[in-house]
Amino acid sequence: MTDSGGVLDILCDIDFELQRGQTVAIVGASGSGKSTLLTLMAGLDTPTRGTVRIDGTDIFALDEDQRAALRARKVGFVFQSFQLLGNLTALENVMLPLELAGRRDARAAATQLLQRVGLGQRLGHYPKLLSGGEQQRVALARAFVVQPALLLADEPTGSLDFATGARVMELMFELNREQGTTLVLVTHDRAIAQRCQRLITVEAGRALEVAEAPA
Ligand SMILES: Nc1ncnc2c1ncn2[C@@H]1O[C@H](COP(=O)(O)OP(=O)(O)OP(=O)(O)O)[C@@H](O)[C@H]1O
Ligand SMILES: [Mg+2]
Repeated sequence: MTDSGGVLDILCDIDFELQRGQTVAIVGASGSGKSTLLTLMAGLDTPTRGTVRIDGTDIFALDEDQRAALRARKVGFVFQSFQLLGNLTALENVMLPLELAGRRDARAAATQLLQRVGLGQRLGHYPKLLSGGEQQRVALARAFVVQPALLLADEPTGSLDFATGARVMELMFELNREQGTTLVLVTHDRAIAQRCQRLITVEAGRALEVAEAPA
């Protein structure tokens, strides 16, 4: 990656393979490269070297449009900073990926999921009128709503109180069980990391697998 200060190596020597349906926690100190790793896995950032395959497809061999189309079909992403669209209501934010996929039941499906994350009373609110935790839940609903094969979430419970965070985690693990969604979570929460089958620790840009639960 290059910035105004020249070339900066953020991640290197990273090589791992995830099986469909696995639950994976990515942990590590602030600034170690966890968010960078997650954005590379989604093809939202391009590596200087190396590649990422999703279901056998080399995502960096695709052009922007093809990569966006593959992402729309298979990948849900929850940003650390939520990245909701400010000119759309909570409901419209969650409906958007469904509408882009041509789903006629977008409104009903988005409403149902927002109710499931406890935001049934906030459908018409714009992001700036929502608390941080509420925005985080809208972002989660938007990522879930297309039932992605792969869900990448950057500290998905970071802004939530204990009870809401626990409910949101249950929802993610339910999705994993019900739909075989592969879950990759960046988290600082030990309890969440321990519930995952694999634990990948990022340390100064290198990924170290410290534990893999028996299959
Ligand atoms: N676009 C960018 N240009 C230059 N440097 C960047 C860019 N994005 C991230 N970095 C740097 O890369 C390093 C890793 O950042 P990253 O956001 O991946 O860390 P993180 O592990 O997610 O941290 P946190 O736990 O605080 O979210 C940091 O030193 C950061 O300053
Ligand atoms: Mg981060």
